[in-house]
Amino acid sequence: MKKNYRHTSFIFLFVLLLIFATTFSIISVDARKHHHTKKSKIHHKHKKQQKNGDGNKAPNCTNSPSPALSPSPSPSHGCYPTQSPIFNILSFGAKGDGVTDDTKALEEAWEAACKVQGATLEIPTEFQFLINPITLQGPCMPNFVFQVDGIILAPPKVGSWPKSSLFQWLNVKWMYNFTIQGTGTLDGQGYNWWKLSQIDYFQVMKKSKNTPDVKPTVLRFYGSYNVTIRDIKIINSPQCHLKFDNSKGVKINNVTISAPEISPNTDGIHLQNTQDVEIHHSNIGTGDDCISIQTGCSNIHVHHLNCGPGHGISLGGLGKDKSVACVSDIIVDNVNLQSTMYGARIKTWQGGVGIVKNISFTNIQVSNVKVPIMIDQYYCDKHVCKNQTGAVAISNVKFNQIIGTYSTKPIHLACSNSIPCTDVDLIDIQLKPSTNYRGINQLGLCWNSYGKSQAPLLPSSMDYCVRRGSGLVRGISRSHEHVCL
Ligand SMILES: *[C@@H]1O[C@H](CO)[C@@H](O)[C@H](O)[C@H]1NC(C)=O
Ligand SMILES: *[C@@H]1O[C@H](CO)[C@@H](O)[C@H](O)[C@H]1NC(C)=O
Ligand SMILES: *[C@@H]1O[C@H](CO)[C@@H](O)[C@H](O)[C@H]1NC(C)=O
Ligand SMILES: *[C@@H]1O[C@H](CO)[C@@H](O)[C@H](O)[C@H]1NC(C)=O
Ligand SMILES: *[C@@H]1O[C@H](CO)[C@@H](O)[C@H](O)[C@H]1NC(C)=O
Ligand SMILES: *[C@@H]1O[C@H](CO)[C@@H](O)[C@H](O)[C@H]1NC(C)=O
Repeated sequence: MKKNYRHTSFIFLFVLLLIFATTFSIISVDARKHHHTKKSKIHHKHKKQQKNGDGNKAPNCTNSPSPALSPSPSPSHGCYPTQSPIFNILSFGAKGDGVTDDTKALEEAWEAACKVQGATLEIPTEFQFLINPITLQGPCMPNFVFQVDGIILAPPKVGSWPKSSLFQWLNVKWMYNFTIQGTGTLDGQGYNWWKLSQIDYFQVMKKSKNTPDVKPTVLRFYGSYNVTIRDIKIINSPQCHLKFDNSKGVKINNVTISAPEISPNTDGIHLQNTQDVEIHHSNIGTGDDCISIQTGCSNIHVHHLNCGPGHGISLGGLGKDKSVACVSDIIVDNVNLQSTMYGARIKTWQGGVGIVKNISFTNIQVSNVKVPIMIDQYYCDKHVCKNQTGAVAISNVKFNQIIGTYSTKPIHLACSNSIPCTDVDLIDIQLKPSTNYRGINQLGLCWNSYGKSQAPLLPSSMDYCVRRGSGLVRGISRSHEHVCL
């Protein structure tokens, strides 16, 4: 009798387990059917991955699994609440041969991973995925990781880009608590764009002459919060490499951004209307600005960076076409600039409104940099720009420990006639001509800026570059602040 009872309960338990197992495999098959129209094409990698307990599955899996499963979860269902589920692009039909269009697979993998808390979307190493311009949209469940270990390639032919998405290649939108990391590369394959002359551009794009010749950014974030980008490489963009706008809370660490020096307008990192940013321990060398900080940016910390080739670290151009510009609370420290056009630079167009304030460049090592220190309130990308009286005010800018060599001139402070720069401090500047020095101006240019200077100063003419006293002019610049408050 007792034996019989034990036997029955064993069978009962077994049946129960069977029911559980069946239910969950149905859920997971259903989920896969949803992502995957051709189930038979499941890659062997996918199976291996499932053995490790991280196959793609129904979004339900991570949400408080049945207690009955907790003691010994069946790995083939991958319902570990603590382990992050991995969504491998190969499981979504991607070929990864660098030739086949894998856009759809990325779209589907993104959609699936987006629904799961703490998901990882894996771009596996040793594969190359050709992806057309794509919007990777949130909001997703928190702590989504985009793990790029392989290579993602942009379409190489200019003509194959849809005319409607020339602004960027990978458009990340409305993502919160999101990370992109890995040992892989985002390759913009921009060579054909760099060669394109303006005339060719308008022909290929079938655009009227009035539209600006916008070329794609490799990776753009829009309206995103608490984003981390680390370890990856971003290379050969048609134009800008990494762009943030209308975002907040950005960490960029240990990234490599590169494009050849001959590539036009290829900024490294471009920030606009973005706050609370830390960029550090990274290498950036492109054909344009290493870092470009535009209007609406504040609380930006850039440190431990190698820059070059390119145009150095730039605030601006600001105030174009009489626009309002507000940039504040920027710290740049421990940066090495090698053979760049400029070092620490602020540039504004004539006629703008607003203010640039509380900016500090500290411990900047320059080597063979054309002009290491620059404020240019007459910025103009054409031959001549109209003279205008208005200007974006510039106030409270510290250049501290700018040390190394220049090839054209050590400093260029060209402040507005109508609105002088105020509280511009030059502290411990030690700049010598480099072996490439071909200039004729070892003094540099200093116009209408007020502040203080502090030894050591080399060349010693630096001492006269900023005028003492500024009580009266300070008021002028302050009156420009109200539009930014
Ligand atoms: C979880 O699964 C159940 C049925 O299996 C379904 O009704 C529910 O909507 C799912 N929840 C989520 C968040 O997907
Ligand atoms: C993002 O993470 C932070 C800190 O862990 C948390 O406070 C916040 O609520 C998270 N936001 C979202 C949308 O999950
Ligand atoms: C971003 O992170 C901060 C600090 O961890 C948190 O307070 C904030 O809620 C997060 N923002 C969002 C939108 O998740
Ligand atoms: C930086 O990223 C590379 C991959 O690109 C990685 O191998 C290396 O370990 C990372 N370094 C640190 C300090 O995280
Ligand atoms: C200047 O900016 C730094 C860095 O963002 C910030 O910590 C500091 O409080 C700011 N100073 C003023 C006076 O606003
Ligand atoms: C602008 O003003 C400067 C200095 O007063 C003058 O040298 C220059 O010719 C003017 N440029 C134009 C386009 O009017």
